[in-house]
Amino acid sequence: AFQTVPQAPADVIFSLTAGFKADTNPNKINVGVGAFRTDELKPYVLPVVKKADAILFNDASLDHEYLPIAGTPSYTKAAAKLILGEGSPAIRENRVSAIQTISGTGSIHTGAAFLSQFYKKSRKCYISKPTWANHRNVFALVGFEVEEYPYWNPETRGLNYDAMIQTMQNAPNGSIFILHACAHNPTGVDPTQEQWKGIAEVMRAKGHFPFFDCAYQGFASGDLDRDAWAVRYFVDLGFELFVAQSFAKNFGLYGERAGNLTIVAKSPADAGRVLSQLEKLQRSEISNPPAYGSRIVDIILNDPALYAEWKENLKYMSNRIISMRKQLYDRLIELGTPGTWNHITDQIGMFSFTGLKAPQVKVMKEKYHIYLTDNGRISMAGLSTKNIDYFARAVDDVVRN
Ligand code: LMR
Repeated sequence: AFQTVPQAPADVIFSLTAGFKADTNPNKINVGVGAFRTDELKPYVLPVVKKADAILFNDASLDHEYLPIAGTPSYTKAAAKLILGEGSPAIRENRVSAIQTISGTGSIHTGAAFLSQFYKKSRKCYISKPTWANHRNVFALVGFEVEEYPYWNPETRGLNYDAMIQTMQNAPNGSIFILHACAHNPTGVDPTQEQWKGIAEVMRAKGHFPFFDCAYQGFASGDLDRDAWAVRYFVDLGFELFVAQSFAKNFGLYGERAGNLTIVAKSPADAGRVLSQLEKLQRSEISNPPAYGSRIVDIILNDPALYAEWKENLKYMSNRIISMRKQLYDRLIELGTPGTWNHITDQIGMFSFTGLKAPQVKVMKEKYHIYLTDNGRISMAGLSTKNIDYFARAVDDVVRN
């Protein structure tokens, strides 16, 4: 029955992790997958997560029963409040609903599957060029025609704002646009607040539907409110929208798959009916969401002292990344590496889009045992004071030759 099944290509991001693990060279560096590392290049279990873990461990009332289909209400409510903000008009007016999902990917998938069934305005979904490799997969899987909007301008190494706006204007009315709430993956380039205002204006005029992907709240700038600014701005303007939230990066809960899909609708009745359909969908796909990661997030978001401590842990992570950007920039300048490198410190979040081309990436891998995606994206968290000199020399070499 399966003789004609073609071989699927390996995943562009996780195949790097596999290659890195198999590599025996002592100098090897993994700047492929976006996962935080300490300066010792070890995975980081947030101290506040350890505390929540201890609370769970000592809670004799806990059991292993099913969670509700839409997840634990205290968790989904706290997650929606985290992204929309305490004083959100949408929360005040009770037109928000939320469903617990399998991290960011599950959240985007759940939202996309719902839209493919119930969103009647357009079959077109626009993703940024470039974007996270999984966006296209997820939307194509549920039957959308996936188009791209220009985002990165290789000449300025910044946002291609005018072309992005132009494409939004030319797109059929009511198209779905996937927007990165903050810390754009892979470029690390975010619109300024002025640019977000321009984006919202054209999206409103065209009746486009914003679907925000928010995987880095608090992780990008170290400030939870600042990183949520764009989403909140759209809500204040009265948009209906979806926000996919991942707690992989900002809680360091990569493997636990704790996520949430927040829905902002026009009315409480709309929010309720949408949730009922999402629950029906969820039942057919995963029945009930997993408990462990979401319990940790639930404890932290709902306890003022732990919440305050979480913010400190977030600052440590974002500061280490900002410091690595500065150190990489300084080294490339010291080496006199041809080209301009200020984009490395200008960009924000987990990634830097270095501008390295695929043939240079190949040399980085083959000669230096440095693993990064072919588009030249590096995860800043894979660099540390231990390997930054080696990394900068490798970049210097591939740029010169
Ligand atoms: C990444 O972009 O490296 C991360 O978001 C991990 C993933 O799921 O691809």
